[in-house]
Amino acid sequence: MAPSIDYQSVASIYEAMRVEKVNGMTVSDLVGGGYPFPIAVHFMSHLVQYADLCRTDNIWDIGCGCGRLAAALTQHIGEQGSYCGVDVIAGLVDFANRHIASRFPNFRFLTLQQKNPAYARWQSAGKSPVLKSLDEACAPGTIDLCIATSLFTHLDTAMTRGTLQSMHRALKPDGRAFISLFLLDRVTSEAMRRGTPAFRFSHQHERGVWVENAASPLSALAFSLEAFFELLAEQRFYVDKMLYGGWAGRRRFTSGQDIMLIRPMA
Ligand SMILES: C[S@@+](CC[C@H](N)C(=O)[O-])C[C@H]1O[C@@H](n2cnc3c(N)ncnc32)[C@H](O)[C@@H]1O
Repeated sequence: MAPSIDYQSVASIYEAMRVEKVNGMTVSDLVGGGYPFPIAVHFMSHLVQYADLCRTDNIWDIGCGCGRLAAALTQHIGEQGSYCGVDVIAGLVDFANRHIASRFPNFRFLTLQQKNPAYARWQSAGKSPVLKSLDEACAPGTIDLCIATSLFTHLDTAMTRGTLQSMHRALKPDGRAFISLFLLDRVTSEAMRRGTPAFRFSHQHERGVWVENAASPLSALAFSLEAFFELLAEQRFYVDKMLYGGWAGRRRFTSGQDIMLIRPMA
């Protein structure tokens, strides 16, 4: 983490995340709960360390939520850089536009008009600009860094495939994508068997996709490592860095979820 970053000027945005609600739930709870500020700072350190975050980056954050990462990113991105956040919950996008885009002109937030059954309760109409498809958010080959933290934990195979395709289209040839998700492999399964993990993912939903709650599969899901690598290869990405998370009870880990830095193949 760059020690010179002072997030004081955005502290009030993080306070608002714990107070303002969308259809009865605070915006911070809607994006996973906990204290949003330390979570954002934690991710900033990973973005700097593993994704070489720099001030001129053009960033596309898919599943940006209320701007939990964006508020901290305002202190890392300079005037030559830019940030576009997209989410399917208009109330979260409106929050981010009111609190972040209104103060930082190179930041913008858009609502993607797409249903996600896990979030249907909160998906009502908002005021922010609306996209009919993800590809409308940015021109091809213009993005340096795609971010998708805890997005593929809520998308099935078809949705994941479409999102990876849009990421590949948007990224510059030397761009990169920082993603976090739940991945199942033999070590994870063994750690889950030994300990008391936060999730067990014991219901199979699709080939290579396991869910926590069969009645609401997109509330929390995990991909088998093989299935996710297949999707990456199919959408012409390679894995540059792989950092296991501690969610399943691994003894050595980097973050809560598994993190990957992926890059487009030519
Ligand atoms: C667990 S939250 C994480 C939010 C944010 N990435 C963060 O770390 O603060 C997952 C987000 O993905 C959004 N989402 C779900 N399906 C989506 C889709 N198909 N496209 C874009 N965003 C989606 C949800 O509305 C929610 O805000």
